[in-house]
Order: sequence, then C-alpha cells, then structure tokens
Amino acid sequence: RPSPIVAPSILAADFAHLADEVRLVEQDADWLHIDVMDNHFVPNLTIGLPVVQSLRPITQLPFDVHLMIDEPRRWAPAYADAGAYNVTFHAEACDNPVALAKDLRSAGAKAGLAIDRDTPIEPYLELLPSFDTLLVMTIKAGFGGQRFVPEMLDKVRQVRAAQQSGHLELRIEVDGGIAADTIEQAAEAGADAFVAGTAVYGADDPAEAIRRLRALAAG
Ligand code: DX5
Ligand code: ZN
Repeated sequence: RPSPIVAPSILAADFAHLADEVRLVEQDADWLHIDVMDNHFVPNLTIGLPVVQSLRPITQLPFDVHLMIDEPRRWAPAYADAGAYNVTFHAEACDNPVALAKDLRSAGAKAGLAIDRDTPIEPYLELLPSFDTLLVMTIKAGFGGQRFVPEMLDKVRQVRAAQQSGHLELRIEVDGGIAADTIEQAAEAGADAFVAGTAVYGADDPAEAIRRLRALAAG
C-alpha cells in the first residue's frame, strides 16, 4: 500500500502562535490539515480564507483544507486559488459534488469528498472517480478531541473493496480521534491518510508524535 500520509490538524494548535505551531510539525508532517467551519454546517466556528492566505507563504507543507461549511461551491475554489493542495468539502452540503470537484481540479487543487458520521457511503461510491481524496469522518464533524467511532471503518473497507475491482486512484483519509491506539485499525481497514489534532498538538513532542503515528500506520 502507498506510504501513509500524516496530517496534523491545526484546530488543536494555539491560534495565537500559528506560525510557530506550523514550524513544530513542518519537518515531519506530510500535509497540514486546516479545518474551516462556518457555524452553519457545523455548530462551531474556526478559521477561514484570510488565515489560509496568511499561512501559505510561511511553509512548504501542502495544505489539506477541510471545509465544514454550507454552500461549498461559493467558497471552495478560493481555497484552491489561495494555494491549497487538497480542498475537501462535505457531500451533505453540496448538491453537485462532481461539478465542484471539476472546478477544484481546474483551479489546480486536488478534490476531496467528506462523508460525515451519519452519512452512508453507498450513494457516493459512483462519484469517487471524480475525486482524489475521500475523507471518512471517524467522529461527528465539528469539534476536535472526540472519541474515535470504529464502526466508521466499514465505510473505508467498502471503498477499498470497490477500488480493488476498478482503477480508482484515491487517498482514503480518516479524521477524528486518530491516535496511537486507533490508527492501526484505520490503516488495516484501508485508510492511507490520517488527520490527527489532539494526538499531535496535545503531545509533549508533536514531531515525535507524528513519526510514531506514521510508523504505526505503516505497520
Ligand atoms: C473536526 C475536525 C478534525 C479535528 C480532529 O471536525 O474535522 O480535523 O481537528 O481532531 P482530533 O484529532 O482531536 O479528533
Ligand atoms: Zn478535519
């Protein structure tokens, strides 16, 4: 399997010192996960476009932007223009995911589709060839620090199984409650990109935490 991607989530970082927090993980992270919330799609408000624009020049890390917002079609391309590597929006918030995936790709970004905890994967399987990333939420979207929901890994298994019979090139990313005690089961299910907020920024040594997570995911 492809080598695992570890994406620390700055939602768990200190927002008063974001540049320093990015530097803490820069040498070890594969992607930097940026959670954008609008207090409509989820009952929480975080950061938006100006912060992504300000962070872009301070690091080489690819930005993995996770949009937990209504009307993603209105905003997602602006994140691609701001230099995001991957822009993921929620299936529940979008009535034409394939069209938005195309827009993102023409804006030069990878396109990601996110599936929240209570959303089944089946209706979206046929859309996956239009995407580069599938983000399977392993919690209910909205807040960091929640407990991993292992039942969500059935979605990961289902997509991996579907993929083995086709030619789907897709990263399967898991987000929520990923830590040393949960990442191995997620990797075994077929995930190959791992978001970790608390497990990285809550650790005494965030860089070491990333290396440990990657080693566990690689098996
Ligand atoms: C929550 C966000 C996650 C969050 C994960 O909706 O999508 O990326 O930062 O945090 P942890 O790793 O603490 O569960
Ligand atoms: Zn996220």
